[in-house]
Amino acid sequence: MLIDLTDNDAFGGSAFWSTMTWLRENDPVHWHESGGGFWAVTRYADAVDVYRDSDIFSSRYGMRLDTNKLAVAAVAQRMLIVSDPPEHTQLKRVLNKSVFPDDIEDLVRDIVRTLLTEALAEGELDVVDVIRRLPTRVVCALLGVPRPEWDWLGRTMNGAFEGEDEETRSGNHAEIFLYFTELLRERRKNPGEDFVSRIATDRRETADGEAELTDEEIIVNCNGVMAGGNETTRYSAAGGLLAFTQNPDQWALLRSGGPAVIPTAVEEILRWTTPGVHVMRTAMRPTRIRDRDIAVGDRVTVWNVSANRDERAFPDAGRFLIDRAPNRHLAFGGGRHLCLGARLARLELSVFLEELVEHVSSVELIGEPDYTASNFTWGCRYLPVRLTPSLVPTA
Ligand code: HEM
Repeated sequence: MLIDLTDNDAFGGSAFWSTMTWLRENDPVHWHESGGGFWAVTRYADAVDVYRDSDIFSSRYGMRLDTNKLAVAAVAQRMLIVSDPPEHTQLKRVLNKSVFPDDIEDLVRDIVRTLLTEALAEGELDVVDVIRRLPTRVVCALLGVPRPEWDWLGRTMNGAFEGEDEETRSGNHAEIFLYFTELLRERRKNPGEDFVSRIATDRRETADGEAELTDEEIIVNCNGVMAGGNETTRYSAAGGLLAFTQNPDQWALLRSGGPAVIPTAVEEILRWTTPGVHVMRTAMRPTRIRDRDIAVGDRVTVWNVSANRDERAFPDAGRFLIDRAPNRHLAFGGGRHLCLGARLARLELSVFLEELVEHVSSVELIGEPDYTASNFTWGCRYLPVRLTPSLVPTA
C-alpha cells in the first residue's frame, strides 16, 4: 500500500521504502492529490533534471512540503536555501568562501577523538547520544562560539528543531536568534577568523556595486548553517554505523582497506542514509517532466531517498557497498542549491571513520534501532551498541 507522503508518521517505520520503489517503477512523476496537491519525482535522472533547471524550479516559495508560508516570505531572498538568483548567487559566493576554514580538520579531529573516548569509556550505549554532539560542536567551532558555550548551544539547537511541541521549538529558536544577534554585535567590534566575523566583514556584489551583508542576512544564514549541518550529519554518521553492524563484511573491508577506502565509504554512507528525504520547488514556467505537464505554480518535490536507490543509476542499489564507484548520489541535492556544507560534512564523516577504525575493533548492535518520523530529515535516532576498543600495541 502506498503511504501518504505528507504523513510524517509514515516515515517512522520502513514502509516508505516500498512506496518509493513502487513510485519509481510505476508512476515516476506522480501527482500526489492530498496535502494540497504536488508532484513527486522519484527517479534519479528526473531528479537531476529538476535540480539543474533551477530557473524553472524556484526555491523562494519554500523548499519543503509543510512550509510555513509566512515564515518563508519573511526570509526569502535573504536566507540562502529559500532564495533564487541574483540574491542567491551573491550570498552563496560570500558564504562559500568562509564555510571551510583552514584549521577545521584539526578541530574536527579533536572533537571526534573526545567523543569516541567518551563512547568507549561507556562501552554499551545509545551511540546517537554521543554522535549528536559531533555536528553541533563542529558548527559551534565554525561559527566561533566560545567552547564553554558549545554544549548549551548544541542542546538549544536540538530543542529548536526537535523539541516536543511548538512552544519548546519556538522558545529555543528565540534563544538562538538572540544569541546570534549578540555574537554578531561582539564580532563586529572584535572581528576574528571565524565564519561570523568573515561574512560580517566581506562584501557582496549587488545590482549597483557592492555591499556588506546586513545583520539580518548574517543571522538568518547562521541559522541556515546550523539547521543544515546538524541532524543531517548526525543521521549519516549514525546510519553509517548501523549499516556496518548489519554488514560485517563491509566493516571488515573498512578495517582492512586503509585510507584508500575512506572516501568511497563516506560517499556510500551518504547515499545509503540520505538524511535529506525530499526537497520542494515551485514551477515558474509551464514545463514537462517525462510525460507530465507541469503548470506555473505547481509544487514539485524531489525524493532524494528514492533517487539514491534507483537501480538505473546505482547497480545493486539495495546493497551497502563501501567501495562503490562511481557514486554520484544526490544526498547533497544538486544544481545551484547544492549543499553549502558538503565539504565540511564529508570531512566530518571521513574523520569519524578514520578515528573509528583506529580506536574501535568492533561495533555490535545490542537492541532495536529507532528512526525519526519525518518526511524531511530522516535517520536513526536511537542506536544501542557495544563498542570494543582496539588493542593498543604495548611498547
Ligand atoms: C550529511 C550531511 C548533510 C546533508 C545530507 C545535507 C543535505 C543538503 C541538501 C539535500 C541540500 C539541498 C537543499 C535544496 O536543494 O533545497 C542542502 C543545502 C544546504 N546545506 Fe546541507 N547537508 C548536510 C550538511 C550540511 C552542513 C554541515 C552544513 C553547514 C555547514 C549545511 C548547510 C546547508 C546550506 C546552508 C544549504 C543551502 C544551500 C543553498 O541553498 O545554496 N549542510 N544540504
